[in-house]
Amino acid sequence: MTITVLPAIPAGTGELSIWPASTVPLPHGGLAVGGVSLAEIAERFETPAYVLDEGEVRGRCRTYRDAFPESGVLYAAKAFLSRAMVRWVAEEGLGLDVCSAGELELAVTAGFPPERIVLHGNAKSPRDIEAALRLGVGRIVIDSPSEIARIAAAVGLEGRQKVMVRVVPGVSAGGHDKIRTGTDGQKFGLSLTDGGAQHAIARVLGQPQLELTGLHCHIGSQITEVKPYLVALRRMVGLMARVRDVHGTELPELDMGGGHGIAYRPGEAALDLTALARRLRAELAEGCAAANLTVPRLLIEPGRAVVGPAGVALYRVLAVKHTGEKVFVAVDGGMSDNPRPALYGVRYAPRLIGRHSTADPRTTTVVGRHCEAGDILAEAVELPGDIHPGDLLAVPVAGAYQLSMASGYNLVGRPAVVAVHEGTARLLVRRETLEDFRSRDIGG
Ligand code: LLP
Repeated sequence: MTITVLPAIPAGTGELSIWPASTVPLPHGGLAVGGVSLAEIAERFETPAYVLDEGEVRGRCRTYRDAFPESGVLYAAKAFLSRAMVRWVAEEGLGLDVCSAGELELAVTAGFPPERIVLHGNAKSPRDIEAALRLGVGRIVIDSPSEIARIAAAVGLEGRQKVMVRVVPGVSAGGHDKIRTGTDGQKFGLSLTDGGAQHAIARVLGQPQLELTGLHCHIGSQITEVKPYLVALRRMVGLMARVRDVHGTELPELDMGGGHGIAYRPGEAALDLTALARRLRAELAEGCAAANLTVPRLLIEPGRAVVGPAGVALYRVLAVKHTGEKVFVAVDGGMSDNPRPALYGVRYAPRLIGRHSTADPRTTTVVGRHCEAGDILAEAVELPGDIHPGDLLAVPVAGAYQLSMASGYNLVGRPAVVAVHEGTARLLVRRETLEDFRSRDIGG
């Protein structure tokens, strides 16, 4: 594909600051990502389509490796998973955090080294545990007391499985109530406050089939401040010191989970990774020195910050409606490919692409095509006043937790995923079709 490229707008400024670094404006209102025109992608692969910039994903993996050179960086697969993604993450030297047999099997069958994988989950099914042991997963993170005996029994008398214990450190952080996981009163982990964590650690240490490599916590998601991580880290180091005092065991690993926040709209705050790395390292060194502990290896599990800003959603406008004071622009996707505005009230910054408009901006609500009034993709955004059916809208920062949370609602079908890299576009995941719906539905 040959394209004419205008001079790039410097990254970090203006409207394009939240777009992939490879984004450049094209003549006549076009936009290219990864060297490919988004309008051309919409023509070739149809809409809705999700575009993933391979270079942006790889670059973000490298940024993590550079910021945390001695730590283990595990990409949280729940943000988005496909075989290509598995390969990029593996090639960039990251590990993987999975939370089901499905994610695990997809990753391993796509070639990801199982020993670099950690299995999470607050309710692991027998199938999850069986797959983890069969495939030789690196670590299983124990999330509830009943798992201890179940995993030990599944390992069998001859075997030994590395495990961690997920601790609730009592720190509240995150972009929305539904994604705050660091305090008691939510379903994840074992409490530091009520002694549940200490009790589980003692039981794990008493199981010859289980090797406790360390402790884990994940305080929440879409966190934009370093401070809550430092508070949690201090508490986790305190617990590691107590484990050493009570059991005489120094645990070699400390996993601080993910949750690193990103900007969804220009001007929004993102977590400063360099500051996070520097201050976590300092806090860990200080805390361990004070407790006379050997410094454990730090692990982190970013999902959103690796893939979120690398994704762009493309929609075609199907209808424009003026109702009272409001202007609704309805597109060919919606809450089945992006439930995040409805679930968490997240706000996005869609943009008209593929043609230049000189019309004055107008406050517009971008809605989906699903049968609910709450199917809103972007409330009250400024878009050109002449938007009409057939236009293309692009939504940046669409790479994380959109497709991975996509549903079959209204049988609209899940969109295609297209990778762009160095001027080439290729299909990663094909669009869901009528044939897919029919072939799963075997009754009747
Ligand atoms: N580690 C664990 C144990 C987690 O539960 C999660 C996310 C992560 C790592 C990665 O967090 P991240 O770096 O991506 O924030 N659906 C929600 C987010 C749910 C996050 C669940 N756990 C959303 O769309 O915002």
